[in-house]
Amino acid sequence: MRILIVDDEYNIRELMRKYLGLEGLESDGAENGLSAQRQLREHHYDACLVDLKMPGMDGISLIRWIRQEGFRMPVIMISAHGEIHDAVTALKEGAQDYIVKPFDPEELTIRLRKLMEVQQLRTLVETKTRSTEGIDEGLIGESPPMCKIREIISRIADSPATVLVTGESGTGKEVVARQIHGVSALAEGPFVAINIGGVPENLLESELFGYEKGAFTGAVGRKIGMFELASGGTLFLDEIGDMPMTLQVKMLRVLQERKITRLGGTSPIPINARIIAATNKKLEEMVHEGSFREDLFYRLNVVRIELPPLRDRREDIPLLAGVILNKLNRQMGHRVEGLSPEAIDALKAHPFYGNVRELENILERAVIFADGPVIKPDVLELRASISRPGTDMGQSNSTLIAQEDNGEARSLKELEVEAIIRALHRWEGNRTRAAEELGISRRTLINKIAEYRLDL
Ligand SMILES: Nc1ncnc2c1ncn2[C@@H]1O[C@H](COP(=O)(O)OP(=O)(O)OP(=O)(O)O)[C@@H](O)[C@H]1O
Ligand SMILES: [Mg+2]
Repeated sequence: MRILIVDDEYNIRELMRKYLGLEGLESDGAENGLSAQRQLREHHYDACLVDLKMPGMDGISLIRWIRQEGFRMPVIMISAHGEIHDAVTALKEGAQDYIVKPFDPEELTIRLRKLMEVQQLRTLVETKTRSTEGIDEGLIGESPPMCKIREIISRIADSPATVLVTGESGTGKEVVARQIHGVSALAEGPFVAINIGGVPENLLESELFGYEKGAFTGAVGRKIGMFELASGGTLFLDEIGDMPMTLQVKMLRVLQERKITRLGGTSPIPINARIIAATNKKLEEMVHEGSFREDLFYRLNVVRIELPPLRDRREDIPLLAGVILNKLNRQMGHRVEGLSPEAIDALKAHPFYGNVRELENILERAVIFADGPVIKPDVLELRASISRPGTDMGQSNSTLIAQEDNGEARSLKELEVEAIIRALHRWEGNRTRAAEELGISRRTLINKIAEYRLDL
């Protein structure tokens, strides 16, 4: 148990540290708000004692910052007599309790311990409900590959190792990242996610590293970057395959040295966030082609979690569908009880190139169109679709092929269409390679794509 004492008076800090020490509680002191912010980023604290009146950043602003950053440890406000009004404001900003100076040391430690106990219970309850709530927070799936993934997650929970999560779009990479954070020792710290592909290249560096005032025209204040924001928690670098080469070098340095320097800054700042990177690109191939640094790849690939496509673990479909339906019922106020056996068979036969996200979309539509408590195959709009690499399934063109739910033998044409779609998908739209795999010429493939109107 470690406590941060923020007070501008040296004597008070030392006195408190002494009392807490007698109770077996470790503590650090901070003499102002900024120092407190730095220490909170660098270490894990189980509670914070914050003086109300301090020069510079006052206690209330610090508490507001603590909550905005997502720190969830208990905060106790220290105030002098006659500051009750401010103490109330502090409670509204997220402090749990306040004590009045001059304080009774015994009362201080009792209150602290009680708050820390409540916090521990709360975390426990949240982890429990999270694991039963399913789709929003948990990783659903009992198939062998999913069990294996769950085992890896629990094994790395207490280590700070960097994790690389790969898999097709919609397979649950972000779910896995949040799960790792949620079960780890850093669970109380922030989970900071950045979509590398979604941030314009010229802004990416300052988003990640932050900057000092005056670092460039327009840098009117200081900006704290994602690496620092994630301190004491997890930094999720989504779509890492989209990271420009120039930044890959800097990223490698951060992973090696565990330090960053803000743009325009001079002093290195230690980074203690766990890094989880994800991508739906084939990083190994990118390394081979020279568009992703090999050294960075190995630094990221310390622990690898490879999410299988949904079509390779079809036995999870009924379970996932059940959890998704429950969630939809809650969200939309519908009362759909489940799927008919035929509907489940139809889902199990569907290729799901959009993976779990596609399943969610199909069920959402089905819940709206269902005209009874049970979903039948006729409201499942099962289309075979190809997603272009890096694009959202919802936006990509989809192509209608034969319904697969009636169990009838499929025509040669249908089989051909499916083979082409699979090959194109496997090669992320690369027609030359898809044609090679299919054993036909590129020209023939292009003709067939046009004939069956499969063009992306
Ligand atoms: N195993 C799973 N258990 C529960 N929900 C899941 C699972 N896998 C995926 N989902 C759900 O499917 C949707 C897509 O998951 P997620 O966003 O994690 O995919 P992704 O791999 O990050 O996809 P993309 O590469 O497109 O970003 C989410 O709504 C998520 O809740
Ligand atoms: Mg994602």
